[in-house]
Amino acid sequence: MAVSAACKLNLFDNLQVAKTAKQLANELSLNEDNLLSLLNALHNVGYLEKNSDLYKVNYLSELLTENNPESLKYACLNWSAEHLTAWQKLDFSIKTGNSSFEEIFKKPFFDYLNDNPEKLNAYHKAMYQYAKDDYKTLPDVIDFSKHKSVMDVGGGYGAVLENIKKKNPNLDCVLFDLEKVVENVTVSNIKKISGNFFNKIPNQSEAIILSRVLHDWNNEKANIILLNCFEALPKNGILYIIENCTDKIKIDLSLLSLNMAAMCNSYERTSNQYISLCENVRFYFDSETKLNELQTILIFKK
Ligand SMILES: C[S@@+](CC[C@H](N)C(=O)[O-])C[C@H]1O[C@@H](n2cnc3c(N)ncnc32)[C@H](O)[C@@H]1O
Repeated sequence: MAVSAACKLNLFDNLQVAKTAKQLANELSLNEDNLLSLLNALHNVGYLEKNSDLYKVNYLSELLTENNPESLKYACLNWSAEHLTAWQKLDFSIKTGNSSFEEIFKKPFFDYLNDNPEKLNAYHKAMYQYAKDDYKTLPDVIDFSKHKSVMDVGGGYGAVLENIKKKNPNLDCVLFDLEKVVENVTVSNIKKISGNFFNKIPNQSEAIILSRVLHDWNNEKANIILLNCFEALPKNGILYIIENCTDKIKIDLSLLSLNMAAMCNSYERTSNQYISLCENVRFYFDSETKLNELQTILIFKK
């Protein structure tokens, strides 16, 4: 929470040159005594350099500044906000099998984001910060040039398509997400379509990517999304599912699975669980390939 408070107050952004607590308190109109305690605490946990009474970012907090190309500032803010509130009632999820987020905020997570434009933007910036890095190698692992068009369903701020476009500039790329998300997407050279994947996914492309989407939903909801993908694809159309499959990685995903339970009444699945969800809606499983040390790509054919 100390690191999160520093992100909220833009302290790391303002400590790219060394400053005293007094200087920083004046610049940002903060309480000097409490700021001094926070700066010392951040130094103590290894997030700031300290030379006599001057404080400055180090290699860790550099990554929590707004303009660092590898910034994780919004990821940090994301994990220390509503996620943390939901975790405080984790016992509710374990007792009832329902989302503690929904119990506290009285609506599902994505509806809550939709009703709070600032939260929505912060969440998507966080996802984009992870995604930019996670999907770097995607166009090397999959040859998308064999398709005329690809649609990223639940594509957020467009990190997947941005990476694919770099290697396949002539490929028709379509991003599909909720209206308020699509409005904020700045990636150019892609088509943007807004809608709800529980209602209808447009027939726009011969391949669909569903990346980190299904893990947000329980089996019943995931089934609807997959049925709509099936309807949207032509015969022989390809579905790429990118997820952390619990059986394909070395680290244990139990805590992440609990997070999905608390936030979305969902869980992290094994590759076979994803395969049977897809086979239930008549996709054929074709093959699988590793994207990076976390994510696996499962490939299906209609
Ligand atoms: C966990 S994010 C994944 C974003 C991106 N694919 C990635 O891998 O970083 C889930 C995405 O699903 C989108 N989404 C949630 N509900 C949706 C709905 N009903 N219709 C369309 N998109 C939806 C969210 O806006 C978000 O972009």
